[in-house]
Amino acid sequence: MPAMPEPTIAAGHAFFFGLGYTALRLARRLKAAGWRVSGTVRDVGKASALAAAEGIDVRVFDGSAPMAEGAFDGVTHVIDSIPPTAEGAPPLLHHAADLRACPSLRWVGYLSTPAVYGDRQGGWAREDEAPTPGSARGERRAAAERAWLAAFDGTSVTVQVFRIAGIYGPGQGRNPIDGLKAGKARIIEKPGQVFNRIHVDDIGTVLLASMARPRHGGIYNVADDEACPPGDPIRFAAELIGVEPPAPIGIDSAELSDMARSFYAECKRLDTARLRDELGVALSYPTYREGLRAIAAGAE
Ligand SMILES: NC(=O)c1ccc[n+]([C@@H]2O[C@H](COP(=O)([O-])OP(=O)(O)OC[C@H]3O[C@@H](n4cnc5c(N)ncnc54)[C@H](OP(=O)(O)O)[C@@H]3O)[C@@H](O)[C@H]2O)c1
Repeated sequence: MPAMPEPTIAAGHAFFFGLGYTALRLARRLKAAGWRVSGTVRDVGKASALAAAEGIDVRVFDGSAPMAEGAFDGVTHVIDSIPPTAEGAPPLLHHAADLRACPSLRWVGYLSTPAVYGDRQGGWAREDEAPTPGSARGERRAAAERAWLAAFDGTSVTVQVFRIAGIYGPGQGRNPIDGLKAGKARIIEKPGQVFNRIHVDDIGTVLLASMARPRHGGIYNVADDEACPPGDPIRFAAELIGVEPPAPIGIDSAELSDMARSFYAECKRLDTARLRDELGVALSYPTYREGLRAIAAGAE
């Protein structure tokens, strides 16, 4: 099916819970398109630096207490990019009633993860299958998805959920080229293991397409077209910048954080038909090759 043209959406006011890597890049795109943008970070110093550098309204929210009144005045779209804690999704723990009472709010996007699928032993994971999380992290995500999907019952607000693959992109050490240059890239080998990835700006494109075609309860895998062994992008990045890739380390002898070990305990391929067929998205970076070539060529 041919890709539909990039959707146009009337400029609104987007509020980002967590102006992190992915959110901030989308925030800049929205601002350039005439939107008002506001959002949160956890630290006062970071809030003022970001507000000054980006010209956006930044509030402090660390998940321990609600923000002062007025944060959602005129807000039309909310994006939650904060990982859930053991207690739940921080925005809902503190602001569910405020958001329900916000008359201008039309659309909410929740950034989730494929951890909700648990281990599929290399099989496909599709959005219409019931989540079967196999880790505490996946359980928390599935609970947060349910909470967001139910938060606006009885209202006209659209809620959509995005299960995002491994994010990479320019800067902030978020790609294997930076990892190799910093001497931090590692190739962990586990037979049969594959992961999907997604370029940070393709996530933004998916969110924009979803805002243009709201479907309440819509859930989308957000991933590239090529699940592959974790070492492949690192070897490709090494070739691009002309360095030797690191020697592979077997999973059993690798020192991994609990979080990393929980990633390697699960193996699945993310089906992304909905991105194309429902949202009409054509990824700018369908595999890590296009994404890494652009980064090596200096894309910012
Ligand atoms: N990285 C991946 O490969 C990946 C893959 C799939 C899904 N995800 C999920 O997708 C979302 C976006 O990812 P990202 O890498 O762009 O995120 P990120 O750069 O880590 O940004 C997360 C944002 O949430 C804020 N935050 C974190 N914990 C918080 C808490 N307890 N209370 C309040 N704010 C909190 C951070 O505040 P500060 O700005 O103050 O740090 C930051 O603004 C996240 O939920 C992430 O877990 C990530």
